Amino acid sequence: MVRTSAPGKVILFGEHAVVYGEPAVALAVSLRFRMRVAPREGGRARVHRVDGHRMDASCHAYFKYAVDKYWTGGPLEIRTDSEIPSASGMGSSAALTTSLMGALIELGGGAIDAERERIARQSFDTEYGVQGRASPTDTSTATFGQGILLAKRAMDGLIMHVERGGAEWYVHRLKVPDLSIVIGYTGVKGSTGEMVARVRRLYDENPLARGVVSEIGEVTMEGVAALERGDAARLGELMDRNHELLDAIGVNHPSLQRLVDAARPHSLGAKLTGAGGGGCMIALTEEPERVFKAIAEAGGQPFMARMGAPGVRRDGD
Ligand code: MEV
Repeated sequence: MVRTSAPGKVILFGEHAVVYGEPAVALAVSLRFRMRVAPREGGRARVHRVDGHRMDASCHAYFKYAVDKYWTGGPLEIRTDSEIPSASGMGSSAALTTSLMGALIELGGGAIDAERERIARQSFDTEYGVQGRASPTDTSTATFGQGILLAKRAMDGLIMHVERGGAEWYVHRLKVPDLSIVIGYTGVKGSTGEMVARVRRLYDENPLARGVVSEIGEVTMEGVAALERGDAARLGELMDRNHELLDAIGVNHPSLQRLVDAARPHSLGAKLTGAGGGGCMIALTEEPERVFKAIAEAGGQPFMARMGAPGVRRDGD
């Protein structure tokens, strides 16, 4: 039996635009997806179970895709336990997929630490296969942890190069500065697949949307420079701008805007994070307790998650 876990994430800059090869910055957070995977004693061949139910594509799409493609052993018994709300924009499907991939590698006699790049590639393939379209942002962050920069060219800290569907990304480690970020969950579940498809339609039909996507890329690279300088005030301004640009491509939601508006008076900057359409927002602040309270008063669920959490790992038995 193997126990694994992987972190959720927040995207500081660049969601959606990253699907088209623009840069993005993501940080692993201390909320984790945990999993226990064991061979099924006496189970019928190829019948896998997840949390006591027969694994099936409609309820367990990520499990099914990953196990069918990457597991050649016998039937598995999988138990899950997640601190990351599902469909919240905090990367629960990527954390699920990488912790499963890590468990499959360990059960097959390999070691997560020696196989991180393989875990990242296979997990991205799984997200892409299930969602129809995706970038390697969430799966890279869940795999490697800490901070991740996806860029258009190789820079310091390069981990790997990925190409898919006409887009390419250079995945880098990014030093995580000591930022105080409060996460606000709207409680409204957003479907990443639907939001990505909606932006795709706009991107294909409307040159203005393509302009917005490339401006998000510019804001992201300015954000990377501000992170390196430790310029929190500029970071906040850029987060606000990124939020307006995401609003312009239709992924904002009234529940998100309510939390962003509530956080802003006490924040350096605030934006939606992840796919949008509900899900989560983040605020960069020097007054985390006040922002926490403001988010709760506006009807959101605040999280004081720590940034820069470790990537997928094998946990103690
Ligand atoms: C979802 O967390 C981030 C998106 O950019 C999709 C992706 O990068 O695959 C919306």
